[in-house]
Amino acid sequence: MFKKDQPYNSLPLLPPLIELETKDILKAAIEANKSLAELKGIAKTIPNQSILISTLPLQEAKLSSEIENIATTNDRLYEAFASNSNNYDPQTKEVLRYREALWEGYNELKKNGLLTTNLFVEIYRRINGTDAGIRNTPGTKIKNSKGEILYTPPEGENIIREKLKNLEVFIHDNEDKIDPLIKMALIHYQFEAIHPFTDGNGRTGRIINVLYLIQQKQLELPILYLSRYIIENKNKYYELLRNVTENKHWQPWIIYMLNSIKETSEKTADKIIQIKELFEKTLIESKKKLPSKVYSKELLELIFEQPYSKVEFVVNTGIAKRQTAAEYLKELEKIKILKSRKVGKEVLYLNVKLYELLQN
Ligand SMILES: Nc1ncnc2c1ncn2[C@@H]1O[C@H](COP(=O)(O)OP(=O)(O)OP(=O)(O)O)[C@@H](O)[C@H]1O
Ligand SMILES: [Mg+2]
Repeated sequence: MFKKDQPYNSLPLLPPLIELETKDILKAAIEANKSLAELKGIAKTIPNQSILISTLPLQEAKLSSEIENIATTNDRLYEAFASNSNNYDPQTKEVLRYREALWEGYNELKKNGLLTTNLFVEIYRRINGTDAGIRNTPGTKIKNSKGEILYTPPEGENIIREKLKNLEVFIHDNEDKIDPLIKMALIHYQFEAIHPFTDGNGRTGRIINVLYLIQQKQLELPILYLSRYIIENKNKYYELLRNVTENKHWQPWIIYMLNSIKETSEKTADKIIQIKELFEKTLIESKKKLPSKVYSKELLELIFEQPYSKVEFVVNTGIAKRQTAAEYLKELEKIKILKSRKVGKEVLYLNVKLYELLQN
């Protein structure tokens, strides 16, 4: 029996004992699959994949942290990401930690193809900058803004681990023939309902979502992020989670998640196309305007990897030595593609148009 203020130790294991292939769910699943497949295809057409894997996850780190009221500005974040200085406010640092957690999760998954409890703990630790693990003391509750208790997750480390084990088995069960996108909705609910940590469960769960899609080969790179959709439909998100727990209303939850995949895939594909077009335009423009010894495709690719560049980045790619690299960036500033700015002892160069594009 579920009671809001009692640990929900009887949280049912996965899979739920309901009909998953209703007409409405299947319809939403087909559309979500179609949009996601398109996104996967479009991402492949970007010649330099690092353009996608540094900017988009950084943007997601910001939005996902915003759900938890950790706010920074794009500008501060991009600047902190490029700079060597450690002198940033705690919120910006936390957003950067989220990005690292995502990255670490992605690399671990690449190594062994598995999404395990240990990996979830690693991700959580990285996000929260802690060495704590699974909750082992009582008292974690989900409350509304008035402080009323809405949900009390299972208590007792063993019970939490058992439920996570079941989640792990479900994740890796490829015999159940459930559509991976429908499974992602089930996994996300279950992870949040288990709520294994004292904090950071939402953010860890959102990272698991994208890693799961990669694990299932629905995506090659971590570029689909649902945080913006969740921010825009936040009350609905909470209400639907509650409705699964209280009334076993899985269908509206699953459809919500499928719609979020569809809408976000479309928006992300659109953004990638815009980045690609801007890159190509900038390539042509700089070929025309830059001195020929300065122009190279590698240099242009570099300034599209993230909004801020600096001499050190150019040197690291092997394009030029320090002094020449500095000259190159200045030339790009002369033709107004970059704009310099002094941050502490460093000079950072902002890719103005890319920055604008990422803003909206
Ligand atoms: N009634 C509920 N049942 C289960 N899970 C819930 C419920 N309400 C909210 N959640 C989940 O709990 C998350 C918040 O938990 P927590 O504060 O540990 O995570 P966070 O990452 O710090 O926060 P946030 O998700 O707000 O960024 C929400 O994002 C949501 O996924
Ligand atoms: Mg929190």
